[in-house]
Amino acid sequence: MAMKVHQIVVLGKNLGIRFTFHSLVAILTAILVVTAIYFTQEGREWSYEKTMSDESLSKCNMFSGKWVFDNESYPLYKEQECKFMSDQLACEKFGRKDLSYQNWRWKPHQCDLPRFNATTLLEKLRNKRLVFVGDSLNRGQWVSMVCLVESSIPSTLKSMHTIANGSLTIFKAKEYNATIEFYWAPLLVESNSDDPVNHRVSDRIVRVQAIEKHAKYWTDADILVFNTYLWWRRQAMNVLWGSFGDPNGVYKKVRMVRVYEMALRTWSDWLEVHINRNKTQLFFVSMSPTHQSANEWGGTKGENCYKERDQIIEEGYSGNGSVPKMMQVVENVIHDLKTRGLKVEMLNITQLSEYRKEGHPSIHRKQWEPLTEEEVSNPKSYADCIHWCLPGVPDTWNELLYAYVFSR
Ligand SMILES: *[C@@H]1O[C@H](CO)[C@@H](O)[C@H](O)[C@H]1NC(C)=O
Ligand SMILES: *[C@@H]1O[C@H](CO)[C@@H](O)[C@H](O)[C@H]1NC(C)=O
Ligand SMILES: *[C@@H]1O[C@H](CO)[C@@H](O)[C@H](O)[C@H]1NC(C)=O
Ligand SMILES: *[C@@H]1O[C@H](CO)[C@@H](O)[C@H](O)[C@H]1NC(C)=O
Ligand SMILES: *[C@@H]1O[C@H](CO)[C@@H](O)[C@H](O)[C@H]1NC(C)=O
Ligand SMILES: *[C@@H]1O[C@H](CO)[C@@H](O)[C@H](O)[C@H]1NC(C)=O
Ligand SMILES: *[C@@H]1O[C@H](CO)[C@@H](O)[C@H](O)[C@H]1NC(C)=O
Repeated sequence: MAMKVHQIVVLGKNLGIRFTFHSLVAILTAILVVTAIYFTQEGREWSYEKTMSDESLSKCNMFSGKWVFDNESYPLYKEQECKFMSDQLACEKFGRKDLSYQNWRWKPHQCDLPRFNATTLLEKLRNKRLVFVGDSLNRGQWVSMVCLVESSIPSTLKSMHTIANGSLTIFKAKEYNATIEFYWAPLLVESNSDDPVNHRVSDRIVRVQAIEKHAKYWTDADILVFNTYLWWRRQAMNVLWGSFGDPNGVYKKVRMVRVYEMALRTWSDWLEVHINRNKTQLFFVSMSPTHQSANEWGGTKGENCYKERDQIIEEGYSGNGSVPKMMQVVENVIHDLKTRGLKVEMLNITQLSEYRKEGHPSIHRKQWEPLTEEEVSNPKSYADCIHWCLPGVPDTWNELLYAYVFSR
């Protein structure tokens, strides 16, 4: 079921029709032009050129490439200047001194990523909703996206608010009537970890067949970006058939990977029936790798990502924080959806993020409370080697998302 090499046609920067997407004629013309160019270039390798005008576009696997140091263009925004930065990800604010993790550009082997342009994206999102749905990694990507666009909006014209008991947080760009939202659902389906604050329950229970309680908040969005992975990483999961609190509910432990598949089937069945195919663009972000044991990359046993400053250079490196079997499940589910006429684009960020062992906050962050001195002095136990500093790796995930949003 291996996915084919992604072939993407990115509309160029100066393509005259960008802001008249509602014009069907223009779109069709563009498609014809693009297709023609695409076929004449077939077989040849060529790259996106910033100076090229109408014909600037590319065809390439954007997930295969390397990181290039670029402190002129990166970071794309400043940590301190992002009004909605999260303390969990603000590594500089919490004492990180080596800041080169902010200066890397992802360079696919076969092309260059289109340059992220906040105004262009906001224009695309006019009167629309972009909604991220998932866990804290997805929330990190959402914060990154907000930071990427918010600096181009004056303070009176943007706002942030929360509804649905804190599950849905909405960033609004008023002038555009556009929203960039995050919905907390770490397992996508219902579970007893659905509270956006108090979700650290010891005995996790999941209702693998129930998603509507969450889905009603996001089904009509224009662009949906899902993820779910880390919260499933255990031997087995307690599954509940019935409702929480229902005395007749049936509980059963179901092993990984099967339980993950059951949940994703519920998710995909929901999408198949409820998504308006003419309106909504769908994405699934693949697993985000972790760097919790240094011996995986040849470091000292017992250490983790703390104090790491360099990347892993071995091409194709994969740590054991990533479980290919789970990625395979996602691929299968997405493939089946496609046969039923619904396209979900996988943002395959796993490999490119694997290299970035220096990109995590480790002890330079604040969760609910700042870390205590004892915790700070014991990075072996308290370092966060799961989430990512911002500006940083998730900005690249959003650059990829950006490329796809404009690739239709
Ligand atoms: C993700 O991308 C990497 C790098 O190109 C590739 O090795 C891997 O097979 C891809 N995985 C999927 C599921 O597409
Ligand atoms: C970028 O990095 C180079 C090499 O480390 C350094 O000489 C230069 O001053 C840096 N430029 C900026 C804008 O930080
Ligand atoms: C972004 O796009 C707008 C509109 O096309 C353009 O005026 C602006 O110069 C672009 N910004 C950057 C940084 O390229
Ligand atoms: C504002 O955007 C929402 C979608 O987020 C849409 O339903 C509504 O019609 C838009 N309002 C206007 C005035 O276009
Ligand atoms: C918020 O939580 C309360 C108490 O748990 C619940 O009764 C209510 O239905 C929730 N509201 C929403 C919009 O989910
Ligand atoms: C989607 O578009 C097709 C073709 O334009 C149309 O026949 C169909 O009714 C539309 N479906 C919805 C749900 O709007
Ligand atoms: C991860 O890999 C390391 C080194 O190869 C090994 O010692 C460790 O047991 C592995 N952890 C898991 C959870 O598989």
